[in-house]
Amino acid sequence: MATIIKNIGKIVGIVPEGILMKAGREMDEAASIDNGYIVIEDGLIAGFGSMENCPAGSSAAPGSAVEDSSPVAVCSAPAEGDMGHDVVIDARGGWVMPAFCDSHTHMVYAGCRDGEYRDKIAGLSYEEIARRGGGILNSADLLHETSEEELYRQSMERVHEIMGMGTGAVEIKSGYGLRTEDELKMLRVIRRIKETSPLTVRATFLGAHAVGREYVGRQEEYVRLVCDEMLPAVAAEGLADYVDVFCDKGFFTVEQTAMILGKAAEYGLRPKIHANELEVSGGVQVGVEHRALSVDHLERTGEKEIEALRGSGTMPTMLPGCSFFLGLPYGNAKGYVEAGLPLALASDYNPGSSPSGDMRFVMSLGCIRMRLTPEQAFNACTLNSAYAMGVSDVLGSITEGKKANLIITRPLPSLAFITYGHHTPFISKVLIEGKEWKNKIDSCLPY
Ligand code: NIG
Ligand code: FE
Repeated sequence: MATIIKNIGKIVGIVPEGILMKAGREMDEAASIDNGYIVIEDGLIAGFGSMENCPAGSSAAPGSAVEDSSPVAVCSAPAEGDMGHDVVIDARGGWVMPAFCDSHTHMVYAGCRDGEYRDKIAGLSYEEIARRGGGILNSADLLHETSEEELYRQSMERVHEIMGMGTGAVEIKSGYGLRTEDELKMLRVIRRIKETSPLTVRATFLGAHAVGREYVGRQEEYVRLVCDEMLPAVAAEGLADYVDVFCDKGFFTVEQTAMILGKAAEYGLRPKIHANELEVSGGVQVGVEHRALSVDHLERTGEKEIEALRGSGTMPTMLPGCSFFLGLPYGNAKGYVEAGLPLALASDYNPGSSPSGDMRFVMSLGCIRMRLTPEQAFNACTLNSAYAMGVSDVLGSITEGKKANLIITRPLPSLAFITYGHHTPFISKVLIEGKEWKNKIDSCLPY
């Protein structure tokens, strides 16, 4: 059974097969077809083109189940098992684009940190809150007290939330365990999300997110725990795809980062690291030296970082939601693109520095605060962020053979409208592997 989306006002984000990322001027392109159709088979994009060549014609093929793509969020999904007939979705002039890929999140966490939010409003900085024993350690305490089952339940609510907002792939980090058993608990929850949700999920081990409470003042010992106990345990269960270290002022040094990344390489884990959020930390360089898939945050970088990244295969990834929430400087996104580098944007969804996984907002901040063009921000949130989580061979663009993780919108005046009108409910359907995602959130909040 095929699904055909017809009467698409514009198919945007078309990329030829084999292109895994865009850099510099290439990021200005968002190739499109007006008045088009897409055919989906076995959850994959099987073909697309302009409506005059649509296999379903301008009206539904005989025997097809037709549904419209009205902007109402509860419209019905393609009927399962409809006796082998094609399902035709009428986009009615709405646009189709690849679902967002969110390559940096911490969305498995327990409860929330709304108490610290008050401290933040009162003027305390992220580092001051952390020094008082709040921040990441606060989340670690909460997670320790929360059962694996409850952690899964809370996290799945967030998974459902982001799918409803158009995310089709997500990277999720551990790092609120900070004890071997609790890190494993987090990673098992991520594995269960991988197995039970339709999203494409990648897991990252972030034991070196902060020094665990029991090890405060004994940082070197904690690094040895990460290397000699946590990493082997994580690898033994095959729980992680990548490794991360928070290489920054007050967290882990370049030397400690190098030690952890060296050890992780023995287990075949490629780095995706936190770098240069709080100071020019040397994190970019140590990441590139260890063949990092991405270096993330980059609120504070200069020419040296740009030169280190050039030709490296490492995707610079910026997290404007974090700058927004913490009042930090925004990364020099425009400078990176003008220097010919690629760039990805991600949400950093976490309870402390970015309590939102809304990639529409991320894209909008990319434009309004970082002065990216809508096309650059779009590529940064789709193909390039897919690269930053190692899935751009199967996601992140409209390409034959890629997964049909797609957003169908209401008719739009322009690509710029997606970032200009990010609070307008422009998404009418989200398809994950060709199936409509119907939001099942009923308890509203995961807390
Ligand atoms: O990416 N910077 C380090 N880690 C997270 C914040 C984690 C937290 O505050 O809970 C981040 O911003
Ligand atoms: Fe982060």
